[in-house]
Amino acid sequence: MFARKINDRVFCLGAVDWDRRLFDALIPLPDGTSYNAYLIKGSEKTALLDTVDPSRMDELIAQLEDVPKIDFVVSHHAEQDHSGTLPRILEKYPDAKLISTPKAKGMLIDLLEISDEKFMTVEDGQTVSLGDKTLKFIYTPWVHWPETMVTWLEEDKILFSCDFFGSHIAATDLFVTDACRVYEAAKRYFAEIMMPFRSIIKKNLEKLAPYPIDMIAPSHGPIYQEPAFIIDAYNDWVSGPPRNIVVLPYVSMHQSTKLMVEHLVASLADKGVRVELFNLAVTDIGKLAMALVDAATIVVGTPTVLAGPHPYAAYAAFLANALRPDARFLSIVGSYGWGGKTVDTLAGMIPNLKVEVLEPVLCKGQPREKDFRALETLAAIIAQKHAENGFT
Ligand code: FEO
Repeated sequence: MFARKINDRVFCLGAVDWDRRLFDALIPLPDGTSYNAYLIKGSEKTALLDTVDPSRMDELIAQLEDVPKIDFVVSHHAEQDHSGTLPRILEKYPDAKLISTPKAKGMLIDLLEISDEKFMTVEDGQTVSLGDKTLKFIYTPWVHWPETMVTWLEEDKILFSCDFFGSHIAATDLFVTDACRVYEAAKRYFAEIMMPFRSIIKKNLEKLAPYPIDMIAPSHGPIYQEPAFIIDAYNDWVSGPPRNIVVLPYVSMHQSTKLMVEHLVASLADKGVRVELFNLAVTDIGKLAMALVDAATIVVGTPTVLAGPHPYAAYAAFLANALRPDARFLSIVGSYGWGGKTVDTLAGMIPNLKVEVLEPVLCKGQPREKDFRALETLAAIIAQKHAENGFT
């Protein structure tokens, strides 16, 4: 992409990565992503906010061909998809000062071997003048690393938020045009990396609330011209009560667990409980993470393999434990051949979840009438718990 104009003095640089399908060798990117950097030309000084993933370094350097001087480079976040091109930028503009939080400074030195004298660390709330433009730096820790901050451009009321409010979308649109698509991608992104820090993100949202914001410019995905759209969504994700939803990740080897899961899904639906079902043999874990944002209950469906849960089920339990969703109830269903410790093993894998464990339903071999009745009882208990707690 060429540099794109947000207004006469503010430009969106960076790259659209249409082909990237995995982030951190873990997170699926079904819609690709973008690495947005921003250039602000003040009457006296020029600032570059963030860079791009090193794989797209040449594209950013080409966009800066006609920019003879950069005075400040702002690093909001030390992760390499935004910081990885900093060494090349600092080489091109040797007099530029690298602005970061003190914590980010240490991380950038560790990760990229940037030399100490390049840095100008800023305090929370500190401002830097570009002449007729003022950058205000606001610490917003844990979105999603401890060193993260955002920049508020006072005169234009633009918030440059880096990962905060971002979405993994590859598109030519500079601004949000398809709100539904962006909502889903932003929620997926929130679920994958920010959900574990819900309470801190809530404080960050409260901290930003007094600032007038006309536009939010994240470092992934399109720019929000209606900031309330994404701020309201974040407030809902961090503060809203769980919904009347069961997330049911499962895996089945010889169909017994599948029969149980299907009966439980039908029983829950019959009682008015929504179910998000994920076959772990084929599922997109990003979608599973996204479903966990709203779920009141998690039920894991697994056969017993080598005396414990199927590795796919263990993976789902590990993921849920790491993401710390706000679910309130959990249960386990599945089939075993001759014995094992599936329930104990899975229960021991979720210490971070503050859930009430509902009586698991395990059966030996094929499920029979008594097992189907037990699943119906589990569905009734879940529906009752959701109703008692007012989850709708
Ligand atoms: Fe987009 Fe945490 O990096």
